[in-house]
Amino acid sequence: MVRLNKVLADAGIASRRQADRIIAAGRVRVNGIVVTEMGYSIDPTKDQVTVDGQMLVMPEKFEYWIMNKPAGYLTSVGDPFGRPTVMDLLPPMKARIYPVGRLDLDTSGLLFFTNDGDLALALTHPRHLVEKVYQAKVKGIPSQGTLKRLAEGVDLEDGRTAPAKVEIEAAENGYAIVRLTIREGRKRQVRRMLRTVGHPVVALHRLAVGPLWLGPLAPGKIRRPTPEELDALLQLKKLAIR
Ligand code: URA
Repeated sequence: MVRLNKVLADAGIASRRQADRIIAAGRVRVNGIVVTEMGYSIDPTKDQVTVDGQMLVMPEKFEYWIMNKPAGYLTSVGDPFGRPTVMDLLPPMKARIYPVGRLDLDTSGLLFFTNDGDLALALTHPRHLVEKVYQAKVKGIPSQGTLKRLAEGVDLEDGRTAPAKVEIEAAENGYAIVRLTIREGRKRQVRRMLRTVGHPVVALHRLAVGPLWLGPLAPGKIRRPTPEELDALLQLKKLAIR
């Protein structure tokens, strides 16, 4: 149950104090009946509220969460075989959030969750070209020519990949850490790109999706976006809806 003045405030009608005055003035009806009582509470999911005869539209409560997905968890809201999924790592919450995009079972790193469908679409639709940054540990050390191929486009079974950014972060004992930034999101794309140029991936980790960077977050843990990240997400959504 939620106090009526908070319901009015949440719907953007007025501040809580102004809402109290609107209520006292008899301008608010709950299920058709005028309510002037201070502190009256309603169930916003069931009760109909009008102000001056206008129905209140309750804004949805959107949830946004960032997870450091560990390898070994499926990106899925359920698995018919009972294997562990990323949903098992979420604490109980009222909102039905779901993962945006997909990381392979054996990939770790940034996975974003929300119940905001417009934002999910803005982040995943190929039209919006959102950058995803991956860190891949690969066998062998790619040459300059190989890096150029990766950057310009690699021919995969489902067509040539779009231009990417690529750099070697470290190389040691016959393995390299490659940072690859792509705007597409085909199935197992990073693994296929690197295998095709002769450097199979032994471990894959996602560092960033659009404005979101994983930062220091332990595997299996979640955090909310910072205010700056949230601003950037909502900006992206606004641009995408237009
Ligand atoms: N590319 C891959 O190959 N795997 C992922 O999980 C994500 C991108």
